This record gives sequence, structure tokens and C-alpha cells, in this order.
Amino acid sequence: MSSSIKVVVTGAAGQIAYSLIPRLVNGRTFGDKKVDLALVEIPQVVDKLKGLIMELEDSYFPAMGKVTYTDNFSEAAKDADWFLLVGSIPRGIVYNGKKIEERSDLLSINGGIFVDQGKAIGSFGKDKAKILVVGNPANTNAFIGKNAADNESQLWMAMTMLDSNRAKSVISKKTGVNISEIKNMIIWGNHSPTMYPDSENVIINNQLGSTVINDMSWVEKDFIPSVQQRGKAVINARGASSATSAAKAAIDTVMACESPTEDGNSFSAAIASDGSYDVPQGIICGFPLVTLSDGTIDIKRDIALSDFGKSKFQISIDELLSERDAVKHLMK
Ligand code: NAD
Ligand code: LMR
Repeated sequence: MSSSIKVVVTGAAGQIAYSLIPRLVNGRTFGDKKVDLALVEIPQVVDKLKGLIMELEDSYFPAMGKVTYTDNFSEAAKDADWFLLVGSIPRGIVYNGKKIEERSDLLSINGGIFVDQGKAIGSFGKDKAKILVVGNPANTNAFIGKNAADNESQLWMAMTMLDSNRAKSVISKKTGVNISEIKNMIIWGNHSPTMYPDSENVIINNQLGSTVINDMSWVEKDFIPSVQQRGKAVINARGASSATSAAKAAIDTVMACESPTEDGNSFSAAIASDGSYDVPQGIICGFPLVTLSDGTIDIKRDIALSDFGKSKFQISIDELLSERDAVKHLMK
């Protein structure tokens, strides 16, 4: 083992975590690094994590380091390199007598979690730690957490990789091209029904999507809505929100951050806007990202958005601004 890395996972007894945690220690996600895990749950279920740890021990993972569990997030956060913030309530369930239909309905339920966790990450997490928010509404939860952390060396992201993977699958079916040949699949904006999956700048077999897909009616009526609504379709079909695909997407995001992005490609995640593409600074917005050879993660800034793309993207930016306004009371 070349070195070790500490990863904190919240919601560790939940359905996404059950698929996610074994992959963190499988010797591929972090290469040959030894992986120490700090698993976090709420007090009511934290003891269940003993069972998960038994299973991890029984699974023969040579890359697995120390595994701890706790309901004390600050304790878990000490010197951590990575935070996978999954812990929160999913939609599709009845909460306080009301069925949770939209991810934005979760704003008031889950938003508060990210104030305390953000503070702890800013104070106890390593400088340059990376934080991936999976819990919904992921972009605005990350916005709340980043503000509370107040540590500019750390990188806060919200997950849009699942949307990007979904979009690749739809394009693969439409074009007959294998998903491995579909690159630069950008999700602009919010992880919500307003997201804009970009069929024009995607690269299909080394060609721009705008030249391969000559069917704007399909793009508008089928492709974009099916990616935007895929989370709901999975909930309707399964009676629970996506879990194994969400876990895989979280792993894909970690791996995309851990090694340099190949030329011409990008990966999808939402990060704080620096004003690129005229997105108001500070909101956590889906952009095309690249990992540079020194490990820095940056926005890819040379994508040409069409007028159609700009108008779709603007809808999602406006939604992020309204979510930002709705959580003003949680900002310091
Ligand atoms: P789940 O209900 O199975 O698990 C969530 C777990 O989080 C539970 O065990 C709960 O006890 C725990 N938890 C709640 N509050 C916590 C806190 N403050 N600290 C630590 N743990 C806490 O849900 P799930 O299916 O694993 O989904 C988790 C979240 O991920 C949901 O908000 C869901 O909407 C979201 N999600 C996001 C994406 C995405 O693409 N961004 C995809 C799928 C699901
Ligand atoms: C998803 O996209 O599958 C998740 O965000 C879960 C949801 O509520 O849709």
C-alpha cells in the first residue's frame, strides 16, 4: 500500500451506502491506497453498522484499513480526506403525513443537516478535503454545507454523475454506439427536473452530438425529459429511490477526481460557480469538470452552448437561485 486515505460516509446504514461502501475498499476506487472508513449514522440506527462492518470484514478487502462507526459527525470528520454525504431523507416516502414528491420538498427537511456537518468539515476535515453531497436536494445542500464550512481550500460538489450516466445510456440506445464511446456528457444546472443534459456537446464516437443526432424533436420531447425524470421513474418502478446506480455514480465521481481527465473529455458534478458561463457566483451548479495533472479540479471553459442550450440552462440556474433564496436563513 502506497499511502492511506480517510473517507467519511454518512447515511451508512441506508440503501445507497450498502452498495457504495464495499466499492470504496475494493482496491480500485483509490488505487493502491489503504482506505480508512468512518461510517456515520443517526443515533437510532447507528448500532446497525456493527452488522455492516462484520460483512466488510468477511468480504476480504486487502485495501481496507481501519473502520469506525459513530453518531458523532465531528469525531468522524477529524483529518478526513473525502466526505460522501449521503445521509438524508429520500423522496417517495411519507414524512410527517405528507408524501414527498419533489426533491425540492426535501429542502426544509434535509437542509439543516448540512449546517452542522459543514461546520465540522471546515474545522476538522483536512485542508483540500473533497466533499460529495449525494443527499437531496444535493446542490442546495452543498451550498449550505460549503457556506457553513467556510474553508476555501476544500472542494464541495453535488452529484450529477448519475444524470450523466443516465444520459449516456439513452444516447447509446438512440445511436447504437456503446456507452464507452460517449464522452463529455455534460449536465448543466441543478440535480432536479430542470437539469439540462447537453446532447449538442456530447462526443459520440469522436464526433459532436450536434452532428450525430439530427433530431431536435427527439432531444426536446424524449431525451431531455427522460433524463430529467429518470429518478422519479425509478421510484415509481421500484418503490424506493435509485440506490445501486447512485452508489456507482458516487464511485465514478470519486475516481474522476482521483486521476487526470483524458483530453477532450470532462466529467459531471456541480461545484460553486466562479462566474463561468455567466452563472452567478457561489451557487452550486452542474458544469463540465476536468481533473488536472496536479489533482486540481476545474471547470472546462471552452464549451459552446447554443441558444437552445443557453435557454434550457437558464431555467435551471433560475431554480438554483430560488433555492438559494429559500435557505437564506441557514446562511451565516
Ligand atoms: P435511505 O433512507 O436508505 O438512507 C439514508 C440514511 O441516512 C438513513 O439510514 C438515515 O438514518 C441516514 N441519515 C439521516 N440523517 C442523517 C444524518 N444527519 N447523519 C447521518 N445519517 C443520516 O436513503 P438512500 O436511498 O440511501 O438515499 C439517501 C439520499 O440520497 C436521499 O436524499 C436521496 O434522495 C439521495 N439520492 C441522490 C441521488 C443523486 O443523484 N444526487 C441519487 C439517489 C438518491
Ligand atoms: C435520483 O435522481 O434517482 C435521486 O435524486 C433520487 C430522486 O429522488 O430522484
